[in-house]
Amino acid sequence: MEVIIVPDRDRAALLTARILAKELRAKPNLVLGLATGRTMERVYAFLATFHKNEGLDFSRCHTFNLDEYIGLPARSQGSYRHYMEEHLFAKVNIRPEHTHLPDGGASDLGAECRAYEERIRQLGGIDLQLLGIGGDGHIGFNEPLSALLSRTREKALTPATLAQNAEMFGGDLARVPRRAITMGVGTILDCRRCLLLATGKSKAAILAQAVEGPITAMVTASALQLHPRCQVVVDEEAATSLGGQDYYRWIFANEPEWAEFRDLELLKPR
Ligand code: F6R
Repeated sequence: MEVIIVPDRDRAALLTARILAKELRAKPNLVLGLATGRTMERVYAFLATFHKNEGLDFSRCHTFNLDEYIGLPARSQGSYRHYMEEHLFAKVNIRPEHTHLPDGGASDLGAECRAYEERIRQLGGIDLQLLGIGGDGHIGFNEPLSALLSRTREKALTPATLAQNAEMFGGDLARVPRRAITMGVGTILDCRRCLLLATGKSKAAILAQAVEGPITAMVTASALQLHPRCQVVVDEEAATSLGGQDYYRWIFANEPEWAEFRDLELLKPR
């Protein structure tokens, strides 16, 4: 695992978007794993800008989202399909049939989960998975005590996650669906590269547990410590509880892999 600390949340989103854009340019038929949530909104805004100003081409790439609520009509406000259309899909040249989210309205949810895993497999697996981290340490909707080898399945959301996500439902807790389909921790660990983005003070303590604490099903993001290629991009606020900050900064400042990403001024959208 590597941790990259940048000054603020805009730079963190920009760096994340630049890493993703580089992968997409190198492999136009990239299979991209996507996340939703407030943290990702800026990343998608940058990707839309790169498409508009630099011709970043999404026409051959496929996307798989981590999760979707159960029981919401697919395109209704609050659904992750709606979120993705609004923040990314409608703003870039991705083909609608290349965008995959679990169907939370499926009559047989178990079959839908198995079919989702099969679709990922048929497309050769996920090349790059974008991740956020929940206040309870979840990745996707893998809430505390999710098996670290779990696959795509139904999950009940914790009260903490319901409260965290109520904002997307006009602050009305009663409107937040109680269950979701999510890729499992094992599904996420199968991706060839993971990129986790965390910003803001509210993520500092849980991020430190995930990155530097023991691997535990109580904090499913900690399973990423097992992944051979996982990078964590954070802003200063989210980095405050990390004990190894000096080392992480030294790596980012010195490793050749990061040379092209160091001057964040140059990373600003043109
Ligand atoms: C959403 C998802 C979640 C979020 C996490 C952080 O698809 O997978 O794990 O990434 O809950 O959400 P925000 O960014 O809203 O704090």
